[in-house]
Amino acid sequence: MDRLTENANLMIVSDLDHTMVDHHDPENLSLLRFNALWEANYRSNSLLVFSTGRSPTLYKELRKEKPMLTPDITIMSVGTEITYGNSMEPDNGWVEYLNQKWDRNIVFEETSKIPELTLQSETEQRPHKASFYVQKDKADDITRSLSTCLKERGLDVKIIYSGGMDLDILPQGAGKGQALAYLHDKFKAEGKLPKNTLVCGDSGNDADLFTVPDVHGVMVSNAQEELLQWHAIYAKNNPKIIHAKERCAAGIIQAIGHFNLGPSISPRDVTDLSDTKLDNFDPAYEVVKFYLFYERWRLAEVENSELYLANLKAVCSKSGIFVHPSGIEKQLHDCVDSLRTSYGDKKGQPFRVWVDQVLPVQVGSDSWLVKFKKWEQSGGERLCCLTTALLSSKGVTVADGLTWVLVHQTWLKEAGPSSDAEWLF
Ligand code: GLC
Ligand code: MG
Repeated sequence: MDRLTENANLMIVSDLDHTMVDHHDPENLSLLRFNALWEANYRSNSLLVFSTGRSPTLYKELRKEKPMLTPDITIMSVGTEITYGNSMEPDNGWVEYLNQKWDRNIVFEETSKIPELTLQSETEQRPHKASFYVQKDKADDITRSLSTCLKERGLDVKIIYSGGMDLDILPQGAGKGQALAYLHDKFKAEGKLPKNTLVCGDSGNDADLFTVPDVHGVMVSNAQEELLQWHAIYAKNNPKIIHAKERCAAGIIQAIGHFNLGPSISPRDVTDLSDTKLDNFDPAYEVVKFYLFYERWRLAEVENSELYLANLKAVCSKSGIFVHPSGIEKQLHDCVDSLRTSYGDKKGQPFRVWVDQVLPVQVGSDSWLVKFKKWEQSGGERLCCLTTALLSSKGVTVADGLTWVLVHQTWLKEAGPSSDAEWLF
């Protein structure tokens, strides 16, 4: 990744459904805990990789439903599609590699002869992935006979059974593990192999991830039988793989702590955020902390105390400015004052605030420009502002504390003029 000039401290490669994302947690608490941990401590020096069975279509749907961070790399369709960054630029080298001994027409010809296989939706049929549903008790037999007949037809395929119902057919060189190994090779060639890699999964198509050399691995507590069975047969004595006690993203946090891969206390688990100030002094941490306070204030999860507002004012420059996304300019101190009336206005409601891609750039000996996306979910509505904040250190050293000088927000999808093509700067 060009964003990092050095080796990443940590590369997390996580499956999404039932691993990063808990579909049984409507409040998304463990995901939000992971998000805060990642943005406060890892975003600027580490790599977040999502590796999902979903096609780009279903992946984008999930992003709309759940408060997910933006990964640096997205691996979709069971390791057959790799894309980079916000713009999801595809890796064409990977596509070419997968064309070897693969012909999806032959795959569909042969599978159509097996009545026990039900085709998954059209969106999930991809250039290098054919996907079906099949009953648990039939999966083994069908896998065996399919392998034989596809081999006879000159293909070299990999058949993966996941979640007790999904059957994927991929080129032999594909899969979540191979895609990760390919990325590792790329980083190695650039001299930027991550210092540690942690792979995280819950089901059959994740088993591949745990076979990549030198990685740490976590099977979340809610892992599927097929993954646990695979582990019992092939990886039982590998001390670098654990079966977490916690579900989903909470299990990932547990693994970070277990393997000592870096900070493992989410700012969301810290009740008195003011206490953490001196040990964790960092502009990204400051941003995460501020928006957590803001969420708790509106939910009335902190005390309604003037002291908090006074502390907030103390970290805002007297001449500090807030540019509201509507284009209105306000004094930061006035904004703090107006928080008074919004204390507890979201109490008991599904109200959440999270930040994504918090990236500080040091722009002077004592100042940082921090760019991030600030999300706010209130009931069914979800809004996002691209935000830039200028923070400056109050004293001689960073440990003396930071002051907010400017906060500037723009709606991510602004309803601007019908055409803004002429608007150059
Ligand atoms: C996701 C995909 C599906 C696939 C399954 C298991 O659910 O949408 O096509 O079969 O993952 O890999
Ligand atoms: Mg999963």
